[in-house]
Amino acid sequence: MSKRSERKEEHLALAQMFFNKKKSNSFDQMQLLRPALPETKVDLNSIQTSLFGKQVAAPFFINAMTGGSTKSLGINRALGEVARKTKIALALGSASILVKEKDQLESFDVAREANPDGIVIANVNPATPASSSKEIVEQLQADALQIHLNTVQEIAMPEGDRNFTWLENLQEIRQTVTVPVIIKEVGFGLDQATIHHLKNEGFTWFDVAGKGGTNFAEIENSRNQLDLSYLEELGLSTVISALMAQKEAVNFIVSGGVRNPLDVLKGLVLGGKAVGVANTFLQALTEHDQDYLLQMIKNWQQQLAALFAVYGVSEIKQVTKIKSYFDLPLKTEIEQLI
Ligand code: FNR
Repeated sequence: MSKRSERKEEHLALAQMFFNKKKSNSFDQMQLLRPALPETKVDLNSIQTSLFGKQVAAPFFINAMTGGSTKSLGINRALGEVARKTKIALALGSASILVKEKDQLESFDVAREANPDGIVIANVNPATPASSSKEIVEQLQADALQIHLNTVQEIAMPEGDRNFTWLENLQEIRQTVTVPVIIKEVGFGLDQATIHHLKNEGFTWFDVAGKGGTNFAEIENSRNQLDLSYLEELGLSTVISALMAQKEAVNFIVSGGVRNPLDVLKGLVLGGKAVGVANTFLQALTEHDQDYLLQMIKNWQQQLAALFAVYGVSEIKQVTKIKSYFDLPLKTEIEQLI
């Protein structure tokens, strides 16, 4: 197995080791106001939406995780099948490995084969040549391309990148691929200045990927000899990062630490066009099996529709009308930052 494939498998194992579904995060400090008499009915149709030109059954999706190794091939096939059966979007893990290891294509493509008509989102690192990014999008028939910005993760990896001059290449990728490009973090949150800067450079989609769930400093730190545990505290929480994206009036995805359908609803109330879920779904698959994940996503769809009704909403575009308020620590951060 190549060093890159080995790292992919280590990430999968460590994401499982550090997973804690009860871990609290910024969503817990965001409250929603609920009408006792909502005058609504629970209706699965209420949560349908469209994304990148296709209809989906729900506004949450499986966010970028894996590809590029034997284990990830099995995972991506299962995620592709679940995404097809539940009619939700699926983002694949970074396919930049294909620049050097073309024989790993199958480990990503299995998801597209399992889900020929659904939304598949490809993912690359910001140093991936534009021509390779284009090839990856075409090979996977991707509906959009995520580019992840992951400085903290890189410095936590001894073998990681040390050159973060990415803007020129980001522009080349954006001008070369024909699908929407989504600028994404990996769990440390996008800040407002970066969103503003990239908006002015012509980027229109962002995935905040805030702090509160998977922590790549923790994951990388456990693969290290050095103690870099102080890096685990870095980052902007998902709610703060989403409020920053909202302020910039861009199209954005809320993700990072989504544990349940109420977190999904809060992400939508913050203005997210969709809500991304990574490790919560991965652990359902790896700790149990594909059927368990399938049932879990179906349950989330039912429960999100139920929450819509409880909060007085009968279609997705009404969600941002739900009033939200914040506990004091988060309110203080908001006052300082936004
Ligand atoms: C990730 N994530 C990720 N992100 C990305 O843009 N490219 C990638 O290749 C990966 N790889 C990856 C592997 C594994 C095992 C996990 C758990 C996560 C990050 C992911 O998309 C997401 O931004 C963070 O995990 C935060 O979301 P959750 O896990 O808290 O829902």
